[in-house]
Amino acid sequence: MNVMDKDAIYVIQIYTRQPVVIAEGKGAIVWDVDGKEYIDCVAGIAVNNVGHCHPKVVSAIKKQAERLIHTSNLYYTETQVELAEKIASLTNLDKVFLCNSGTEAAEAALKLARKASNEKDFIAADGSFHGRSMGALSVTSREKYRKAFEPLIPGVKFVPYDDAEAIEDAITPRTAAVILEPIQGEGGVRIPSDGYLRAVRDICDDSGTLLIFDEVQTGFGRTGRWFASMHWGVQPDIMIMAKAMGGGFPIGAMVAKESVAQKFQRGDHASTFGGSPLACAASLGAISALEKGLVERSAKLGKYFMKKLGELKHDYIKEVRGKGLMIGMELTIGGDAIVDKARERGVLLNCVSETVLRFVPPLVITKEQIDRVVEVLG
Ligand SMILES: Cc1ncc(COP(=O)(O)O)c(C=O)c1O
Repeated sequence: MNVMDKDAIYVIQIYTRQPVVIAEGKGAIVWDVDGKEYIDCVAGIAVNNVGHCHPKVVSAIKKQAERLIHTSNLYYTETQVELAEKIASLTNLDKVFLCNSGTEAAEAALKLARKASNEKDFIAADGSFHGRSMGALSVTSREKYRKAFEPLIPGVKFVPYDDAEAIEDAITPRTAAVILEPIQGEGGVRIPSDGYLRAVRDICDDSGTLLIFDEVQTGFGRTGRWFASMHWGVQPDIMIMAKAMGGGFPIGAMVAKESVAQKFQRGDHASTFGGSPLACAASLGAISALEKGLVERSAKLGKYFMKKLGELKHDYIKEVRGKGLMIGMELTIGGDAIVDKARERGVLLNCVSETVLRFVPPLVITKEQIDRVVEVLG
């Protein structure tokens, strides 16, 4: 029986998978079980920023796996504090909670915001995606994801994205926090206008509301800065991250300002696996790879990629937009057929929000590989 048939029998069928069985990866290339090569413009959904099997990540995992894999948070480890210090310095925030995914980081952020503000309500944006656990789903806007699981947590208001006034109008004395993606990912690679995040920051400051930035998809160099909010120089009170943080190994974090973080006390939140020595070592390996110029490379190659995509002329192409190597091509038709055709011709893509082709390749992708992707699309 082949892999796809077995999957249909044994794996709960919640994923819409593309019909390819991936066996190996290196840099921006993956190979399927038949040896067919693909340029990977999905990167495990914006995870493999340092490329598949980056030597620094592989060697960090190997070394750590031979020493200590897991201890629980009943004890200290050197790798965990080393990573926490690094994340605090990269974000200019103060204290870190380590977990295993973006959803868990979102969940932790919502709990911290409630505890720190002593209020209950949240404001999120139309088109938002923050995860699918009950809390994270409650601030995720799409009806399609929410409907079957209601009632979700009460007191969440959705406002149009990129509209600061709508946030100002929605804030009440019961608002604990505003949660936003600095650039929306699943919502269709939506980039806000330049003054948006600053205006939201000011509104939150004036009303004493906490501001949470979800950098799960936009973090770790994806947009040409370490974190997307840095394009606009706006600091949140709480930031969440995951995806590219471990170079492919599962790890996430919630990072907060000291004054907010200190409201979380012993027993308020926890994770058995969170911040395991192995995950932290993988993350330190990935960060050290990113520090070798990959963030700048994302900015530079992102411009090149966007320019090339922008030169494609077709009635179906409505707009090409992006920052760094987080690029969306909005179509006037559904994108799935193009994703299928591109895959047949050796390019992995995916489509978000039905009509937006998303390009989030490893930041190590070469110009030649970008040229090939554009040629295939053409
Ligand atoms: C912005 C954002 N937040 C949160 C999540 C959830 O992360 P995870 O799938 O690691 O739980 C995602 C996943 O796509 C995301 O894009």
